Amino acid sequence: MKVAIVTGASSGLGRELARRIAQMESIDRVILIARREALLEQIAAQIGDKASVLALDLTGEDMLARIDAAIGEDSLSIAVNCAGFGKMGAVSLPDEQQCGMVELNCVALTKICAYCASKMPNGGRIINVASIAAFVPTPNLAVYGATKAYVLSLSKAMHKELKGRGITVTAVCPGPIDTEFFAVAGIKDSKLFDSLIHMTPEYVAKRALKAAKKGRWVCTPHPLYKAYRVLSKLIPDRIFINFTKA
Ligand SMILES: NC(=O)c1ccc[n+]([C@@H]2O[C@H](COP(=O)([O-])OP(=O)(O)OC[C@H]3O[C@@H](n4cnc5c(N)ncnc54)[C@H](OP(=O)(O)O)[C@@H]3O)[C@@H](O)[C@H]2O)c1
Repeated sequence: MKVAIVTGASSGLGRELARRIAQMESIDRVILIARREALLEQIAAQIGDKASVLALDLTGEDMLARIDAAIGEDSLSIAVNCAGFGKMGAVSLPDEQQCGMVELNCVALTKICAYCASKMPNGGRIINVASIAAFVPTPNLAVYGATKAYVLSLSKAMHKELKGRGITVTAVCPGPIDTEFFAVAGIKDSKLFDSLIHMTPEYVAKRALKAAKKGRWVCTPHPLYKAYRVLSKLIPDRIFINFTKA
């Protein structure tokens, strides 16, 4: 059986990616991963027979062993690292918030990527959700932006490393998506976010899966954010950073 795992599947972008992956004929089973079990069960019931639930904290010690046990003898075809969070505020935010972002957005994601690199058969697809915050440092979301820059860099390097085995790694770099992200991050009345185009999870998920199917290493949904990515390569950070404060 061909199996997909999706972290962050209890809401937002992860939920939408899980729904769409379950509709693929080539996938027999989708494992929905997040902490809120009741929500995951509801989503699994909507998806149907292909969905199974693995309720866990990805920053927990036994996380990989539990994912491995849930996959069992099945063949891991698609792995989506979507779980992540941001916290708005200066770098002086409490340790558990700043380091919590690093633990989930970077450490847990790296462990799952390494697991995939050793266990995934040829032709597998890894999708890592980064952000446009990966392109330019973001004051007031400094640690979050740094974690996403890490995800982008890691994904590109892994894509190159695994190419010989036909495994592709796609870093998805969305701008704002209307999800629980903003409430969790404590973002409200932000000039920057209010001025940006917001996307739906459906819009981003569709483009992310298309890019992964084509084996692209970076997917930046929406032409405006593609332009932002190009500009970030042309304009020095010391100038651009004056416009990226959250
Ligand atoms: N929304 C945006 O504007 C935006 C823009 C760019 C990139 N992104 C990225 O997109 C990804 C998805 O975010 P979203 O917008 O869909 O936000 P969301 O609705 O808040 O979803 C975050 C997901 O992560 C899970 N999660 C959080 N902490 C976890 C933990 N310790 N262990 C396991 N699961 C955990 C949450 O589930 P539980 O609470 O049930 O554990 C939830 O399913 C994130 O990586 C985010 O950084 C979002």
